[in-house]
Amino acid sequence: MTATDPKKLFVKSYGCQMNVYDAQRMADVLAPEGFVETQTMEDADIVILNTCHIREKAVEKVYSELGRVRELRKERNAAGQDTKIVVAGCVAQAEGVEITRRAPSVDLVVGPQNYHRLPDLLKQAEARRGVVDTEFPADDKFSALPMPSAKKTLARGVSAFLTVQEGCDKFCTFCVVPYTRGAEMSRDMDAIVREARHLAEAGIREVTLIGQNVNAWHGKGRNGSASTLGELLYAVADIPGIERLRYTTSHPRDMDESLIAAHRDLPQLMPYLHLPVQSGSDSILDQMNRKHTRDDYLRLIDRIRAARSDIALSSDFIVGFPGETDRDFEDTMDLVRQVGFGSAFSFKYSERPGTPAAELTEQIPESVKNERIYALQALIMDQQTAFNAATIGKTVDVLIEKRGRHPGQWTGKSPYLQPVVVEHELHTGDIVPVEIISIVANSLNGRVAGPVRSAHIS
Ligand code: 5AD
Ligand code: SF4
Repeated sequence: MTATDPKKLFVKSYGCQMNVYDAQRMADVLAPEGFVETQTMEDADIVILNTCHIREKAVEKVYSELGRVRELRKERNAAGQDTKIVVAGCVAQAEGVEITRRAPSVDLVVGPQNYHRLPDLLKQAEARRGVVDTEFPADDKFSALPMPSAKKTLARGVSAFLTVQEGCDKFCTFCVVPYTRGAEMSRDMDAIVREARHLAEAGIREVTLIGQNVNAWHGKGRNGSASTLGELLYAVADIPGIERLRYTTSHPRDMDESLIAAHRDLPQLMPYLHLPVQSGSDSILDQMNRKHTRDDYLRLIDRIRAARSDIALSSDFIVGFPGETDRDFEDTMDLVRQVGFGSAFSFKYSERPGTPAAELTEQIPESVKNERIYALQALIMDQQTAFNAATIGKTVDVLIEKRGRHPGQWTGKSPYLQPVVVEHELHTGDIVPVEIISIVANSLNGRVAGPVRSAHIS
């Protein structure tokens, strides 16, 4: 590297979309310091592992990756170069100084609330290895950071995540998020609308509003008082150029009337909802401190479907929560059968130190968790296949994202978030009606069935 070469930054993100968004904010904070992003770890002057703490496996992955980065640094050191190793994200927040004990090769550990201090922290790490900053700031965490630049977001596609809310006050007994991401906080409507307008001007056609508990959003609205996510969606839908809106992740307790009405009234709001239920058993839901019953969830689904009958539903499930009996698990299977999901994620309960559920004595053996997750995933897969099969013969609008694997192919997403492959002369950002002909694995194949709405003329 000569003195004039830019320094290179590589950020590897794990876990949720919030980390994808944060990765960009970190890159933006470091850009004025002369850092440009690289797509390969091998030539990076700084490697940031942007970590996830949600399950034990996610944490172990970080430590094994750290071993790999350390080897890489050795090779670069031998060639007269150096690599700074940074651990960011929720593992950084939760483990703090423990990381520098277990992995002394780490130069800096920084929690999600403190990315605005990265330039200064890196300078400290020049002088000594093992700097740790996991303080929760008292001031507004949203005002401390620049928003990601629209230009860079665009370079990654036609669809962007936009953080509107951070943190969680729900304290489900299995979950680390309230501890790693802190108390719930909402950005003001004006700031969000401004950022969404920037994105639209830069060519973004689909915006997903994100937050750990996004539908608890209660930021300052136009009249100066707390507003709702439903109202925010109406405001963002008004922005010319934004053709599609999504939001994630929601809590059943916070699905209010205005949000359900938005699903009924806003054509831009895509008919897809990720609404984690975690379990179908009332006693487990109670032990999880979910603040809703099985029946609350089922009645809520009825109301949402009454507002938007074709909505595709998705959820998260945990099997093997402490004390979960065969009967409790059967209740979960039964709830899945009653709702009929378009897709869903399921996880084996993973004990997280410091959470209330980790103190429960009746932990479930791994073999039982394995049996249950196998059965649940088979049921979910059947439902997903049936949901996809039901689109054959139908025409759906596809937002084109990128070229497909084979020449002449393009890929994009249906309103229901299904990947669709089509052979046609298209461009990134086009919205095109596609008649679905067949399904291969989880992907739908189709042919263009109407005029293309090009990104260039919107
Ligand atoms: N064990 C297993 N799964 C978990 N999740 C959160 N915490 C745990 C845990 N301790 C799952 C929940 C949540 C999703 C993001 O991760 O289902 O909705
Ligand atoms: Fe975790 Fe529950 Fe908050 Fe979701 S709602 S982030 S599962 S504590």
